[in-house]
Amino acid sequence: MLTSLQSALSRIDQLSRISDSPLYLVRTFLSPANLAAASLISEWMRDLGMEVSHAADGTVRGILAGANPSAAPLLLGSHLDTVIDAGSYDGALGIIAALAALEEILAENRTLPYPIHLLAFSDEEGIRFQTTYLGSRSIIGPLDAETLAIKDAQGISISAAISGTGWHENATPIHYSLGECRGYIELHIEQGRVLEEAAEPACVVSGIAGQSRLCITLTGRADHAGTTPMALRHDALTGAAECILAAESLAQSKPPLVITVGKIQIHPGASNSIPQSATFTIDLRHPLDCSRDNALAELYLQFSKIATRRGLALEWIPVQENPATPCDPTLTNQLLHSLTAVTGSTALLPSGAGHDGVILSKICPIAMLFIRCRDGLSHHPDEYASPADIGCGIAILSHFLKSLEP
Ligand code: GLV
Ligand code: MN
Ligand code: MN
Repeated sequence: MLTSLQSALSRIDQLSRISDSPLYLVRTFLSPANLAAASLISEWMRDLGMEVSHAADGTVRGILAGANPSAAPLLLGSHLDTVIDAGSYDGALGIIAALAALEEILAENRTLPYPIHLLAFSDEEGIRFQTTYLGSRSIIGPLDAETLAIKDAQGISISAAISGTGWHENATPIHYSLGECRGYIELHIEQGRVLEEAAEPACVVSGIAGQSRLCITLTGRADHAGTTPMALRHDALTGAAECILAAESLAQSKPPLVITVGKIQIHPGASNSIPQSATFTIDLRHPLDCSRDNALAELYLQFSKIATRRGLALEWIPVQENPATPCDPTLTNQLLHSLTAVTGSTALLPSGAGHDGVILSKICPIAMLFIRCRDGLSHHPDEYASPADIGCGIAILSHFLKSLEP
């Protein structure tokens, strides 16, 4: 019989093989691999004796009964989607570690005082539709019409994606309202280097940085690459390049501000045509909302000046705004108590990465646990957390669950 750590490691390996590409790991919202991962996670939940259901948008829920079945549940979870050319731990580890902690509790024939709802969210990364947290957003209330109309690169809207997979046919809505749950706890890899440098296997999270996502389009004029003198061009791509470098300089001058352009598309995209339009993403984050707002205003000003000087039209479309989200002090202290009991540490770190807790914090208290990852590397296929650190994370989670009071 496998230990809970051995089965967790085997599950990480199994999930990492479920991909939409033969070349690298990618599972985006409602893709075939995303649904296959959701099915496998459902099976693992069923094997633990959980009551399992799924929502039309691919999020999966397993319910483990508690001593008082009608008591408010505690939510655990993370996301099952990935970025493009992803590592195996971002998101997957949080679901698998929670399963392992519950497995340990069941193996000891313990009954927890209240129900545990384990959630595997179908979208946290926001890769397919550029808008994040679709899985957790839809469990706190239906997605609004504007969000449902957002289209992917193939022109498929979120609502068409939801009704187009067949997955919605035997779906059950998963919904929580304000005050209905005790809290939400997520384990995640740190995705930074602080734990490694401090030689600590794990820490608790103080809060999550705010994030703005935008879609920027510069439009100029396509023209002939051989016959148009440099002074007469309205090249959208060189305009975009100047904007991107301005964004980098702005972020470099105002740490801990970070700005990333992760995707760019040009039209018409031919080596002998001057680019007519360039569309790129902006991901801008800061732990303080006022500093994030100021950076956005400054960026808009700089982009406008660049566009005007180059005779380009600027389209500035905010895609998503998530405020900085502090973790709940009471739940955080409980998690710190378990961290100290298992590792002796009292380490508390902020999160620069976004997590589903940002959304769940609108309806219940949240807390998070970070596990060290090698070189702090994440959103990369070499992402890695050691078995010892994963075991430590499972031990902290299961200590936390065993300490729950009725
Ligand atoms: C999720 O990984 C994010 O922070 O973008
Ligand atoms: Mn991620
Ligand atoms: Mn993640």
